[in-house]
Amino acid sequence: MKLLVTGGAGFIGSNFIHFWVKNHPEDQVVNFDKLTYAGNKESLKDLESNPNYRFVHADITDPTAVASAMAGHDIVVHFAAESHVDRSILGPGVFLQTNVIGTQVLLDAALKAQVKRFHHISTDEVFGSLELGSSEKFDEHTPYDPRSPYSASKAGSDHIVRAYGETYGLPYSITNCSNNYGEFHFPEKLFPLAITNLIEGKKVPVYGDGLNVRDWLYVQDHCSAIEAVLLKGKAGETYTIGGLKEDVSNVEVVKKILQLMGHSEDMIEYVKDRPGHDRRYAVDWTKMNEELGWSPSVTLEEGLQRTIDWYKNNEAWWKPLKEKAQGFFQQNYKSL
Ligand code: NAD
Ligand code: TYD
Repeated sequence: MKLLVTGGAGFIGSNFIHFWVKNHPEDQVVNFDKLTYAGNKESLKDLESNPNYRFVHADITDPTAVASAMAGHDIVVHFAAESHVDRSILGPGVFLQTNVIGTQVLLDAALKAQVKRFHHISTDEVFGSLELGSSEKFDEHTPYDPRSPYSASKAGSDHIVRAYGETYGLPYSITNCSNNYGEFHFPEKLFPLAITNLIEGKKVPVYGDGLNVRDWLYVQDHCSAIEAVLLKGKAGETYTIGGLKEDVSNVEVVKKILQLMGHSEDMIEYVKDRPGHDRRYAVDWTKMNEELGWSPSVTLEEGLQRTIDWYKNNEAWWKPLKEKAQGFFQQNYKSL
């Protein structure tokens, strides 16, 4: 098979390419990535000499570059996006450009190239926010109710993918996944920020009262879910993916990290809340389990330990990225 992976130099995309090359060494993988602040070729350095892997440095909003890269591919796995809610609050324009227009440019090219599957990676954040303490979960039938510029742009991208399926017959699939964590995660997101701050002797910023809930999924489990959808899932279908059975709040997860790294709770710094901060996400992944036989294989404790070990052993990967993100840190955490 020939896969065109967009955004493969980012967090989940780079993990997915490693996963795919390891498990399907006979397949050819092209990684199409603009290398924004979030894209990093270092994450795929070990694949540079692999004859079945190729990197294309280009923008998904550029129709010429996209059409030329798309030709001859069977499968598109579309990760490329602006992905950080806090950045979308500071500057929403690029989120609409990349996430909505970029997706539409890819869809046009995929139709022309007659790909067998266009797989769109999306988020549970398109469904909005659940009540704290309720047992409600998002699933494939939950109505869309995005509340941040990021989630609104991802909702727009999901709608345009489905519209190309209905209107032009494009064979697509969509996964809406909960928050991922693990190796190669850009160090301004909560887990890698907490871990690297602690390595540097700095405190961990927790927004608001810290009671917001996310349905954390280890990134390798997300990769195996995407593999299941590509190999066994049906065109025209959507699948929701999550990681945990019980709610875990942000402050609880930060406390777990502190404990695993041998720090006291004094290292928590409560900071001003994010505007419009979604309270709770929880995902029902019954369809993934019953139809495709998928379930998460790594517990939060195991995944956290692996992630902490990885950041301890890979300072050369994250230190320069944290330097590069200083401007964002200053803007985002003005009160610190
Ligand atoms: P990321 O920000 O780490 O990586 C995004 C990648 O896309 C980067 O390599 C970047 O260079 C590339 N990119 C951005 N704009 C581009 C453009 N115009 N043209 C080409 N490449 C471009 O993101 P991530 O966390 O790996 O997320 C990947 C996908 O998964 C996104 O679509 C995101 O919405 C979705 N998702 C993420 C999570 C999560 O917890 N991180 C959860 C659910 C869904
Ligand atoms: P994030 O990793 O930005 O993902 P998202 O907002 O897309 O879910 O944040 C995860 C949770 O952690 C979210 O509830 C916001 C919170 N958070 C903090 O409490 N402190 C921080 O410094 C960051 C970056 C996030």
